[in-house]
Amino acid sequence: MRPAADVGFLYRSARKSDIQDILEIEKASHPHPWDEKAFNVEFSKAASGMNIFLVSEDEDSGEPAGYSVGNVIADYVHILNLAVADRHKKHGVATELLRRTEQEALKRKLGSITLEVRASNTQAINLYKKTGYAERGRRPGPVNAGEDDVLMWKNLL
Ligand SMILES: CC(C)(COP(=O)(O)OP(=O)(O)OC[C@H]1O[C@@H](n2cnc3c(N)ncnc32)[C@H](O)[C@@H]1OP(=O)(O)O)[C@@H](O)C(=O)NCCC(=O)NCCS
Repeated sequence: MRPAADVGFLYRSARKSDIQDILEIEKASHPHPWDEKAFNVEFSKAASGMNIFLVSEDEDSGEPAGYSVGNVIADYVHILNLAVADRHKKHGVATELLRRTEQEALKRKLGSITLEVRASNTQAINLYKKTGYAERGRRPGPVNAGEDDVLMWKNLL
């Protein structure tokens, strides 16, 4: 069956020209947003296969609706960033970005995907549980966050 998030959205590798739009989504999405330099670093890494940096593009506007960045570490992928623009939330975009990250990881024979998420980020934790991630532990988050990070894991192989 065709996933709902395929309707109205294209999924592709990030382009340098996406970064300004991504920064707008980033600022609205995270308490400590990445800056332009951080995205440029990830963009450069993508070219050499060191990460999987995907964009969901709104077919109407041609603008990014969401994005995900997963770093390749040894034989697994660690998701570093994932966000969806407010107006495109709850349309399955994040689910599809994760699914395509998994597909790409499998192509590269990478066996699992990990991530860390703030314990209070219920919407993200729901997303990850729904897409097959399991909690593997907790650790104190950054000092200024005042809460734990939840470590989550999904085996692909
Ligand atoms: C978390 C986030 C990426 C989800 O993106 P999205 O495209 O709206 O997610 P999806 O439409 O694929 O939702 C899939 C599931 O996630 C969960 N979910 C998503 N939004 C939710 C919300 N507001 N409240 C509760 N659960 C939610 C639900 O289980 C949902 O399944 P359902 O639609 O059947 O209920 C998005 O809300 C976001 O950008 N948040 C801010 C940035 C962030 O927290 N990133 C993750 C950091 S680890």
